[in-house]
Parts: sequence; structure tokens; C-alpha cells
Amino acid sequence: MGAGSIGCYLGGLLAAADWEVDFVGRPRVLQALDERGLALSGLSQASLYVPAAALRPHLHQQLPAGLRPDLTLLCVKSGATAEAAALLQAALPAGSLVLSMQNGVGNTALAQALAPTLDWRAGMVPFNVAELSPGHFHKGTLGSLCVQGHPDEAALQALQNTWRAQGLNLQLLPTASAMQAVQWGKLLLNLNNPVNALSGLPLRAELLQRGYRRCFAALQEEALDLLAAAGISPAQMTPLPPRRLLQVLRLPSPLFRLVAARMLKIDAQARSSMADDLSLGRLTEIDALCGEVVRLAQTLGLSAPLNSRMVALVKAWPERQGRSYAPAELLSALQP
Ligand SMILES: NC(=O)c1ccc[n+]([C@@H]2O[C@H](COP(=O)([O-])OP(=O)(O)OC[C@H]3O[C@@H](n4cnc5c(N)ncnc54)[C@H](OP(=O)(O)O)[C@@H]3O)[C@@H](O)[C@H]2O)c1
Repeated sequence: MGAGSIGCYLGGLLAAADWEVDFVGRPRVLQALDERGLALSGLSQASLYVPAAALRPHLHQQLPAGLRPDLTLLCVKSGATAEAAALLQAALPAGSLVLSMQNGVGNTALAQALAPTLDWRAGMVPFNVAELSPGHFHKGTLGSLCVQGHPDEAALQALQNTWRAQGLNLQLLPTASAMQAVQWGKLLLNLNNPVNALSGLPLRAELLQRGYRRCFAALQEEALDLLAAAGISPAQMTPLPPRRLLQVLRLPSPLFRLVAARMLKIDAQARSSMADDLSLGRLTEIDALCGEVVRLAQTLGLSAPLNSRMVALVKAWPERQGRSYAPAELLSALQP
């Protein structure tokens, strides 16, 4: 559900392993699959191809009636969750398993509230997927997928086995709190997305500028302090624990280059999808990232001025008429 970068990549892996996969998406993506088939490539993974003829009967602009899937992967952006959840609620039998493979920490709860008869599970995609050309999706980084569930659930076990055979690890986390820790760990890293988007630079070039790294570190530190106050311990998603990562981000650039060599192994042109969203005038996921930190602060009776300001800066982007922020300008703009 939501055949974009993540939906086509994850669904494509399953289709390549002869699962029967229905893709629900927009005409632009579906037309490419219909004409060219689906090509998948990625770091440490064999390239795969699903021919158009095999996909054609399973490409849908609307959720078809009568589907009885073993599982559904929800792969829309956070702003589209409510609509997609309502459509799934109307189309799927009660008890259907739906895995939210989205960023953010609030999508599953929102979907569960709007589609209460479905069995919603949170998931986490650690790697980046980009559409290199129509119908060609490329995984640019590494990492293990996570989903809340148990190894004795047949559909999840089948998913795990299929992806394992394709070189992709799926970790099943038995408790909601373990999954929540992973989602917050990922969200902390995603706090660089708005910094990257407002910098106007590719990710690597942005991370090589200390001023931008200081913005990223400041947003993370504010979130880490709030998580500590809430008693949530975010999972460690990088070789360094979250607080140690802050110190590394703040190092002068020559030292950062040495210490963070692994973090800088990014395609030279890669940038956050929020940058694409801003340049195309689309809704961003800022409310599901910095906005989630602001909400956490509110539940604690505290405030998150830096993340709150970042939400405002991203929303005010159209007023900048395409003028990106220099590092010092962004640092000072973040101050309330
Ligand atoms: N891409 C990555 O590298 C990456 C990595 C990790 C996690 N994620 C997360 O994964 C989620 C999906 O990201 P993505 O990059 O795959 O987004 P995407 O490329 O924009 O794909 C989502 C697709 O779903 C479509 N869609 C929305 N509502 C729909 C509906 N009701 N019916 C059918 N199609 C619908 C969207 O169309 P419209 O554009 O018209 O809405 C879009 O084509 C996000 O939460 C993101 O943060 C992404």
C-alpha cells in the first residue's frame, strides 16, 4: 500500500521471490512498472528484475475489493497514513496483518485508531532507497529491518525467510517497548533530514560542514534530553551510542572526516527525500520527525524550542523562494 521507493523495493523483493504481490500506488509509478517491469539493486545484494508481464495483473490505482492478503506493507509517507488506513479498513477482513514500514513513531497508533479491526504492527526500515530511474529502485545503505512480532507467526516467519535468502535481515521484536526504542533511535538520525533539506546540498556535502552538523546535533540533543525525561532509551542505530555521536558531530571537520569515515560512505548525490519534497512543493514528514519531539515535550509539560523552530522553518520554506540556508544562518534561525 503506497508503491513508492520503499513499497516497490520491499514488495519487489517479494515479487522476485514468487510471492503474489499487489502494488497499490499512483499512476506515475504504476505506469513505469507496467512498461518496464521492476528492477532492484542495492548494496550487498544481488540485482533482481521482475518482468512487467508478471506485475501487470497486480498493479492497482485503488485498493481492489476482495483482497485477502497474508500481510500488507504500509509504505505511504506519514502525511498519507490516515487516508491509507481508512482505505485499508474498508477493504481488508478483520484481523488482517498490516506492517507500517514508515519513519516516525506515531503512524501505527494513528492507523490503529482509524482502522481498529486490523492488526497493525510497527516496522522500521534502516536503509535508504532511491528511484534511480522509472521502475528502478536502489538500496543505498545497509541495516536490518525490524518489525514488531514473534517468530512463531507464520506470515512474519515467511517474510523473514524470504528476505534472509535475498541477503536482507528482518529482526522480529516481541514487545512494543523494544520496537518503540528502535523507532526513536531511527527518528534521532532522521533529525538530519530537515537540516539536509534546508541546506540545499547533497547529504555528504552537508555533513562535511560543521555548522550543519551542529544544527543536527542540537536537534538530537534536545530530543535525547526529552527521551531521558520520558524514561525512553532509544536503540543505538550507529556504531556509536547516541550521546557519543553528538560529540563526533561537533568535531572540527578535518577530525570528523577521520572519525566518521563510515558515516560519510554515501553516494555523492544522495540527499534526504525531504529535500525532494520541498523542491517539488509536496507535504513533508516534518510533523512525524521534529513534530514528534515537540509532542513528546508537550506530554511531559516541557518544551522543545529547537525542534519546534525547525518545524516552523520547514513549513515556511515556500517563503524562501528556493533560497537555501548557509550553516551559520541555519544555526541562528534555529534559535527561538
Ligand atoms: N525512501 C527511503 O529511503 C526511506 C527509508 C526509510 C524509511 N522511509 C519511510 O518510508 C515511508 C515511505 O517513503 P517513500 O520514500 O517510499 O515514499 P514515496 O516514494 O513517496 O512512496 C509513497 C507512495 O505512496 C503513494 N500513496 C500515498 N497515498 C496513497 C494511497 N492512498 N494509495 C496509493 N498510493 C498512495 C504516494 O503518492 P503521492 O506522492 O501522490 O502521495 C507515493 O507514490 C516514509 O514514512 C519514509 O519516511 C523511506
